[in-house]
Amino acid sequence: MTTYPKTARLMQRGADFLGSETAILCGAMSWVSERNLVSAISNAGGFGVIACGAMTPELLDREIAATRALTDKPFGVNLITMHPDLFELIAVCEKHAVGHVVLAGGIPPKGSVEAIKGGKNPAKVICFAPTLALAKKLLRSGADALVIEGMEAGGHIGPVSTSVLAQEMLPELAEDHLIFVAGGIGRGQAIAGYLEMGAAGVQLGTRFACAQESIAHPDFKKAFFRASARDAVASVQVDPRLPVIPVRALKNKGSEEFTAKQREVAGTLDREEIAMNEAQLQIEHYWAGALRRAVIDGDVETGSLMAGQSVGMLKEEEPVAAIIEKLMSQSEEALTRR
Ligand SMILES: Cc1cc2nc3c(=O)[nH]c(=O)nc-3n(C[C@H](O)[C@H](O)[C@H](O)COP(=O)(O)O)c2cc1C
Repeated sequence: MTTYPKTARLMQRGADFLGSETAILCGAMSWVSERNLVSAISNAGGFGVIACGAMTPELLDREIAATRALTDKPFGVNLITMHPDLFELIAVCEKHAVGHVVLAGGIPPKGSVEAIKGGKNPAKVICFAPTLALAKKLLRSGADALVIEGMEAGGHIGPVSTSVLAQEMLPELAEDHLIFVAGGIGRGQAIAGYLEMGAAGVQLGTRFACAQESIAHPDFKKAFFRASARDAVASVQVDPRLPVIPVRALKNKGSEEFTAKQREVAGTLDREEIAMNEAQLQIEHYWAGALRRAVIDGDVETGSLMAGQSVGMLKEEEPVAAIIEKLMSQSEEALTRR
């Protein structure tokens, strides 16, 4: 890679922590972040993260081994905190001496951070921090680094934008801690801005989802290239009795029907035709398997096309190395102009 001295200097702490050339993480994306994309990211100087998602410990074991066969560079594993086999998955990471475990999907359950940091092959722990108070708590509980992710991001999101989270958290935390900023980053100029505010690095998902090395179905990629920022919308909860965790995805027939489904289930509740927990389960299960259908089968009509608002900046399939090079050179250009 060409050298980008100003950007590299600001990324130094983050890159040292990750063991990678740049402090650019490719956030784990279920079904997308598997051996091919993860190894390509790490080989190109970024930091790839395997999305464990709903994988069994056996599947994760195979995926880590297969990724290792494709890269000798460091990469991480993203585990969802509510996975029923979380501690077995942690043991699999330990067996393979994975250097970094990212805990996503909520507050890490008791003992999980200790299990990751304590074994024969201790790993670094990276957590998501939705608020400043929780960020401080996570750091006190042993998190080695945090990701702050705004609602511009693809996938499951919180209610606050990246720019506000960055302004709230970086001045308080960035001097003494490693904070990576995620959500809505499409170009290097934005990376330069967050680095200058004190971020140790950045995490991108959408920008890498359609890279040449991504195994996502060609129709999934085409939908991304056609979309503009305003097509990546957050799912909306229609009824206070039926909780919906907001997910940002490209709108399609599936997302329209989800709204109709919520109205229909709320109606059956009003008429007392079903019990509350049955109604809530129907809503929860609506999207089961939908991301796989979109990413792997190319079902862009009813699958879940999780995408962030930066999707409008994606126009064509590019190799991961070219994307990282472009991000670094855009950041460098911005810093040089200051
Ligand atoms: C298709 C897709 C799937 C995702 N799946 C996961 C996941 O399984 N676990 C997770 O922690 N984050 C997941 N994310 C979030 C990404 O890891 C990353 O934090 C996010 O994409 C960054 O914001 P950006 O999309 O604006 O670049 C997903 C994002 C996308 C676009």
